[in-house]
Amino acid sequence: MSDLVYLNGEWLAPEQAKVSVFDRGFLFADGIYEVMPIYQGRPFLATQHLARLHRSLAAIAIPDQPDEFWQSLVAELIERNGLQNGLIYFQVTRGAETKRSHLPQGPITPTIFASISPLELHWDIPKPAKAVLCEDIRWLRCDIKSISLLGNIVLKQYAQQHHAIEPMLHRDGVVTEGASSNYFAVKDGVLYTAPTNHLILPGITRMWVLQLAHQLKLTVREEPFHISELAQLDELFLTSSSREVQPIGQIDDIIIGNGRCGPLTQQLIEAFHASKRAHLA
Ligand code: PDD
Repeated sequence: MSDLVYLNGEWLAPEQAKVSVFDRGFLFADGIYEVMPIYQGRPFLATQHLARLHRSLAAIAIPDQPDEFWQSLVAELIERNGLQNGLIYFQVTRGAETKRSHLPQGPITPTIFASISPLELHWDIPKPAKAVLCEDIRWLRCDIKSISLLGNIVLKQYAQQHHAIEPMLHRDGVVTEGASSNYFAVKDGVLYTAPTNHLILPGITRMWVLQLAHQLKLTVREEPFHISELAQLDELFLTSSSREVQPIGQIDDIIIGNGRCGPLTQQLIEAFHASKRAHLA
């Protein structure tokens, strides 16, 4: 939890930070968010995270701030909280009026909230985890990092009830992504992941892993895979800012490969760690 959070120009203790009950985030989930990892006091892939923040705001026509505003917010969050490793959350809603109305009644100032929470910096190869298949019940603009996360939460609850770390979402059998992650599969030495379109969030970790895969000269196809192919896959992993690269050894009752972390996954985890080390050097 943050010691100090930012809310609309003020630095406050978390329990002091309050927004109006008429805030459109509260009433309509009318807002977006962004999550940025901080390693040893330095933001990781900050340019890419800020670019996605700008894209999300533009997509729903909420007025934005220049890069310098967000950059100084990042620097101040780190400094004021003295946190070396953490996750910064930016939360921007369309703002508050004094009455409820689906459409804003006039010009409105966005609500900007930012906080930082601790993140453990790890250098190990994570143990393969279990995921569960779920129909992707979310809306059709998953490319926007919307604060409307009800679908994601219901799906995560289902995964938790089935002792899995994450759902694997599919539409008519075609795998889209996780509830807060992107999936990659390996078959016959080829790395597959769903293409970026309206059905998935363009994960920054996904993009970084694709870049590392190209540097390693792996064969990559940004093509979705089908749930009927799961039993034949050699390797499977997911990516996100908080989990980085997480091997998946089991989906429902299907064991992936031999259930252990596969060689390509391991190679990518090591390359990811090396890129983090380079970032910290
Ligand atoms: N979630 N897909 C969804 C639906 C997500 O919510 C996330 C991230 C990702 C991975 O994106 P990235 O690699 O940029 O973290 C994919 C963040 C971590 C969250 O909600 O906390």
